Amino acid sequence: MTSVLGIESSCDETGVALVSAHGRETPRLIAHALHSQAEMHRDYGGVVPELASRDHVRRVFPLVQQVLDQAHRALADVDAIAYTRGPGLAGALLVGAASAAAMAAALRKPCLPVHHLEGHLLSPFLSVDPPRFPFVALLVSGGHTQLMQVREVGDYALLGETVDDAAGEAFDKAAKLLGLGYPGGAALAALAEHGRADAYALPRPLLHSGDLDFSFAGLKTAVWLQQRKLGPAASDAERADLAASTQAAIVEVLVSKAVHAVRDTGLERLVVAGGVGANRLLRRRLDEQAQRRGFRVHYPEAALCTDNGAMIALAAAMRLQRGEHAPPGYAFDVAPRWPLDRLAAPGAATLS
Ligand code: KG4
Ligand code: ZN
Repeated sequence: MTSVLGIESSCDETGVALVSAHGRETPRLIAHALHSQAEMHRDYGGVVPELASRDHVRRVFPLVQQVLDQAHRALADVDAIAYTRGPGLAGALLVGAASAAAMAAALRKPCLPVHHLEGHLLSPFLSVDPPRFPFVALLVSGGHTQLMQVREVGDYALLGETVDDAAGEAFDKAAKLLGLGYPGGAALAALAEHGRADAYALPRPLLHSGDLDFSFAGLKTAVWLQQRKLGPAASDAERADLAASTQAAIVEVLVSKAVHAVRDTGLERLVVAGGVGANRLLRRRLDEQAQRRGFRVHYPEAALCTDNGAMIALAAAMRLQRGEHAPPGYAFDVAPRWPLDRLAAPGAATLS
């Protein structure tokens, strides 16, 4: 049995988790702990990088202890330590990387850098209904909106991505306009439950572009214009209608492109990952399409949709299972910008 400790610190969540892997079996989650800084950044309307780094410093070792206590293990029982190398905020990433390298060096155990988005797209392997390779992955987070063709661990081909804002960013910006705070995706979805999705005609950017790219910047402007028309005296019903119309526009584009990607690749499975993957309307619409068109959709467990340490430990464990080794020594670096389709294939000595 191999147990891997994972540390995630790319943005405003400190995540730590322990997974264990038996032979070639899908790794299992043993324990995980998370601290969200959302409250701390709320007053600023977005993540303040310097504050994020300082908070990761405060949180990471207590969270490691919490996970080990939950798992009834000692640090010395861990076989490898993984950290998010990128993409993300440089200072925030460095906290996770340095903590992981320090623990690994002290224990003389391997230290593995992991790509944050690889963690997201493999996260459904920890669910009760894990996928099988190959599949199409729809990655929808606060910073990324991508469709990938996933042949196996480490083999990712980009099919399409956003040319401007990410889907989560579109949710967050619309939520901010509606006075719902930051990050507002979940709050906008909750408000939308009480509204009519056809109340306002909002654009569906690139819906018929014929490719698998996305664009959400224009939608934000349309929501802003509509919000301005309503003015400060907008009723609760009007705000709910605007939330519902915004959500419907984002979801329709995501579903349409994901369905096209499944059709174009001829694959039979779709994996949805990233914070926006928690959106209930998105899940309902994708499930409807899957049933109608005969493909399967896999989601991460709700708690593992947003950033967490479990997906980082999992990705490292799956790479170790394929015979990959950690880079030699305990020097580390971070990669704030790191395209997922430029990851080395399994078996390579380094991941960069
Ligand atoms: O993957 P994630 O935790 O962080 C990044 O790596 O970006 O995703 C966070 C994003 C935020 O934009 C948040 O507003 C959005 O996911 N989000 C949602 C929902 N829950 C989180 N968006 C729509 N509906 C939700 N239920
Ligand atoms: Zn993420």
